[in-house]
Amino acid sequence: MNRPVIAGVVLASTLLATISCVPPPRVTEGEEPAGRRSMDATVNALFAPPSPETIPGDLRGEQIRLGYEMVVNTQQYGKRYVGNALNCTNCHLDAGLHPNSASFVGISTLYPQYRERAGRQVTLADRINECFERSLNGKSLPPDSVKLTAIVAYIEWLSQNMPPGSAVPWRGIPRLTSIHQPDPLNGKKVFEKKCVFCHGSDGQGTMAGPPVWGPRSYNIGAGMARVSVAAAFIKANMPRGWGWTVTNNEAIDTAAYINVQPRPDFPDKIHDWPKGNKPADVPY
Ligand code: HEC
Ligand code: HEC
Repeated sequence: MNRPVIAGVVLASTLLATISCVPPPRVTEGEEPAGRRSMDATVNALFAPPSPETIPGDLRGEQIRLGYEMVVNTQQYGKRYVGNALNCTNCHLDAGLHPNSASFVGISTLYPQYRERAGRQVTLADRINECFERSLNGKSLPPDSVKLTAIVAYIEWLSQNMPPGSAVPWRGIPRLTSIHQPDPLNGKKVFEKKCVFCHGSDGQGTMAGPPVWGPRSYNIGAGMARVSVAAAFIKANMPRGWGWTVTNNEAIDTAAYINVQPRPDFPDKIHDWPKGNKPADVPY
């Protein structure tokens, strides 16, 4: 269920390579979303990532391929560092090539970058480690780790077609503009109708979809634990691979429902937002 179909990726990226990606406007709250903010940039980049099928066969290619495996088979390749049942590609869809789910395409050009949550400049490797500690409820890899360097190499390789100085207009997950108050009770009803088939009535996942709460899900420090982020992800991407979508309100309500369910704690949360400005929907 977790491995993206390469043929689909190739097709999607070929199609996408031919059109300019103009994302919808998004609400910016607090420090996140990280992206889609550089509307003042002069260069308008195309979403034109290379296909993972064309990773070269040389030594550098081997490193890039390891990075790709870390992203799609995190459970296997990153086992020591993962504390739940997720792979990076469960959220960074199509191995990071999907333009509406925090794509990896182009983003290496934006680091190092100041992060308000950390209160300091972070490198791309630091940002990857944040997802290991939070989204994967695991632990960070040492800075000189071959596996961490490989993920960075993969993201750099995906970013190779970015013109210098360009914005990354598809960055992040397109946020919803809505004044709807999240309603977890309605979210439960929608979840039972539209999500249990793949994620299970207990939210613990099935063969058709990963867990969305419980001990094998992302922890409370993860971006996905925020209702605004989960709602954006659900609206843009769920259900996966079917011919229908959910409404904005359904996305917001199911996001609220899954995020009031029990999930792992994030022990280091006291160090977040050292300078204030914590977004209102951070659950701690
Ligand atoms: C047809 C099956 C299917 C349905 C229905 C579906 N999902 Fe998913 N969902 C998936 C799959 C598969 C993934 C992982 C995507 C991948 O690996 O490519 C996923 C990923 C997710 C994720 C991020 C990864 C995680 O587990 O935390 C969330 C959150 C999520 N779904 C929520 C929902 C919600 C809420 C609904 C109902 C509105 C829903 N999904 C409906 C199949 C489905
Ligand atoms: C539970 C979902 C989830 C999983 C699993 C996950 N991430 Fe993330 N990741 C996110 C979210 C959400 C964001 C922030 C997106 C936004 O704010 O729009 C993010 C952001 C990032 C960014 C920064 C993107 C940018 O635009 O600067 C990187 C790099 C990243 N993740 C790498 C990884 C890697 C590598 C893995 C696996 C080791 C991983 N993530 C696993 C949800 C996840």
